[in-house]
Amino acid sequence: MVKLKPLRLLIHLTATTLPTDSLLMTAIPPTLAQFLTDCQQRVDLTLRQTLEQAQPSEKLRQAMLYASLDGGKRLRPVWVYGAAQALQGDLKQADAAACAVELIHCYSLAHDDLPAMDDDDLRRGKPSLHKAYDEATAILVGDGLQSLAFELLSAPQEALSAEQQLAMVRCLSQAAGALGMVGGQSLDFEAVGQSADASDLETLHRLKTGALIRASVQLGALSCVSPGALEIEQLASYADNVGLAFQVQDDILDQTADTATLGKPQGSDAANNKPTYVDLLGLDGARNLAQQLTEQAISSLEQLGSGADHLRELATYITSRGH
Ligand code: IPE
Ligand code: IPE
Ligand code: MG
Ligand code: MG
Ligand code: MG
Repeated sequence: MVKLKPLRLLIHLTATTLPTDSLLMTAIPPTLAQFLTDCQQRVDLTLRQTLEQAQPSEKLRQAMLYASLDGGKRLRPVWVYGAAQALQGDLKQADAAACAVELIHCYSLAHDDLPAMDDDDLRRGKPSLHKAYDEATAILVGDGLQSLAFELLSAPQEALSAEQQLAMVRCLSQAAGALGMVGGQSLDFEAVGQSADASDLETLHRLKTGALIRASVQLGALSCVSPGALEIEQLASYADNVGLAFQVQDDILDQTADTATLGKPQGSDAANNKPTYVDLLGLDGARNLAQQLTEQAISSLEQLGSGADHLRELATYITSRGH
């Protein structure tokens, strides 16, 4: 029997309306809260079913479960499903893509926390993977989750054509690799102790975080039957804006939130001498930028009907979130 935790995200979201930065908190619309819970249940179900299967190394299997379940907002899957919904798609056809992008994200977090990278000991309110296990296991879990993402995405699915699946594999591999998240992570480390200007920082953030968020929205669109060129263009513009806004808010929270609320160490950027949008623009400037990006994201969806409402609400939520 698969155990679901449908209330986990709602509890997290309720917590965001509490102390740290109350001026920025907006109540989450009930329809979005329900959609987030539904998406989280869908992705957790598939992840659990997949990761609970036996593997030659029981230690690795347990560590993969630890890194992937019981924590995390699951926002990238929500973007996958949200884009599919905006195009009147069948959410079932987006399940594999939603899991695949979350697996890539979980792998990136396991590696991001390693001593050789950000050296953070807390993730999603639990000891980071390398603390709960060891560094070698954390590296291998990342490798395993990445491979699993592409295995899921490429497994034959009746409702999707081989062309659609190939396009999805290509989309996610580009976003995860040197032209996307991994490239951004490399720039992030090259920037340590350097003074990054606006253009450097934008490139870095768009790659390390924006690329996977953009891919999430694209994957949702690719799971639908022949979306129109205009719809694709609008979704891409939406995704570019929310992707950047998401990391701007992450930088803000690194300075303003507290460790207990974040579930990861507050002040990690400063401790690691990372350039952030708060350094560049100040707190108010960073908040204004996040707000502008949110407005641009929402206005990008002008031509899409009410099916895109969750995407619109999500854009507002990500810059008002407290963790
Ligand atoms: C954290 O992402 C890492 C970044 C890309 C900034 P999330 O804030 O989505 O982390 P989880 O998945 O909810 O833990
Ligand atoms: C990391 O950015 C983005 C990834 C590719 C994992 P951060 O280093 O700012 O993410 P957090 O703050 O540790 O979640
Ligand atoms: Mg990092
Ligand atoms: Mg980090
Ligand atoms: Mg951060």
